[in-house]
Amino acid sequence: MKHYTNINDLGNLQKAVQEAMELKKNPLQHKTLGEGKSICLLFFNNSLRTRLSTQKAAQNLGMNVIVMNFGSEGWELEFEDGVVMNQNKSEHIKEAAKVIAQYCDLVAIRAFASLTDKEKDKAEMVINSFKKYAGIPVVNMESATGHPLQALADAITMGEFKTAHKPKVVLSWAPHPKALPHAVANSFVEMMQLQKADFVITHPEGYELNPEITKNSTIEYDQKKAFENADFVYVKNWSSFKDYGKIMNTDSSWMITSEKMKLTNNAKFMHCLPVRRNVIVTDEVIDSENSIVIQQANNRTYSAQIVLKKILEHHE
Ligand code: CP
Repeated sequence: MKHYTNINDLGNLQKAVQEAMELKKNPLQHKTLGEGKSICLLFFNNSLRTRLSTQKAAQNLGMNVIVMNFGSEGWELEFEDGVVMNQNKSEHIKEAAKVIAQYCDLVAIRAFASLTDKEKDKAEMVINSFKKYAGIPVVNMESATGHPLQALADAITMGEFKTAHKPKVVLSWAPHPKALPHAVANSFVEMMQLQKADFVITHPEGYELNPEITKNSTIEYDQKKAFENADFVYVKNWSSFKDYGKIMNTDSSWMITSEKMKLTNNAKFMHCLPVRRNVIVTDEVIDSENSIVIQQANNRTYSAQIVLKKILEHHE
């Protein structure tokens, strides 16, 4: 694998999940693969899980890790061509990406959506500019439109907890006071389209995700109906895609409660974290035995590790 910017870059999701499960049994089994190699983790936005798990994954492979909070510590970057740079942007991506590639063999990037310019966000300017100019493998640690490391961790987690051959999986919108990006939901949908499952997306009308991503996925506007007989309930907030980046409602009746979970087939509760308790989900649900959010977070390490391993092997 040359780059990892989308879940489809894996080629075979089921095989990657199996390999990650094997890796998890002995995380240090490839501890010399990355010897002498460095990875730069560049954060244009905050992180807890992605930062620590990707660092741990790289270290498990013997890599040297360089972390930079680019959003607060780097020069502000210009991405447009032919601009007279006499305003606040100090460095062009053309130099910055090539310079970064002098210090590392792989680069991983977190750069969220602006939520103000749909076309620019869809163009994935940051990730694609690094791909274009750095000349080294690029890993997406959550971009404007996707979070494929999270989606792979979710697939590993569902693989560990599923009891049915074709489980019912529900992706449910839940309310949030701030406008959040679509990246996690998009990658979850893309990942579910590669799975044997009865997959349903539920959200209030007006919160449809990008139809180019949801394609033929089932959408059910009645959340309670969607929850019936579900084996997994995956919860996430996102802002409007149609009325781009806007909050259409914060209806607390969409919060995940024990009453709603009783409609399911004793479903596992999933969330990528961070989560706002008693806004997205009640304490009772997230503290219940059916909540597997910590196991999901743990699998972020093995998701990142299998991705880095595949890239290192490709470039051996
Ligand atoms: N789920 C996730 O990506 O968490 P962080 O934003 O803390 O990295």
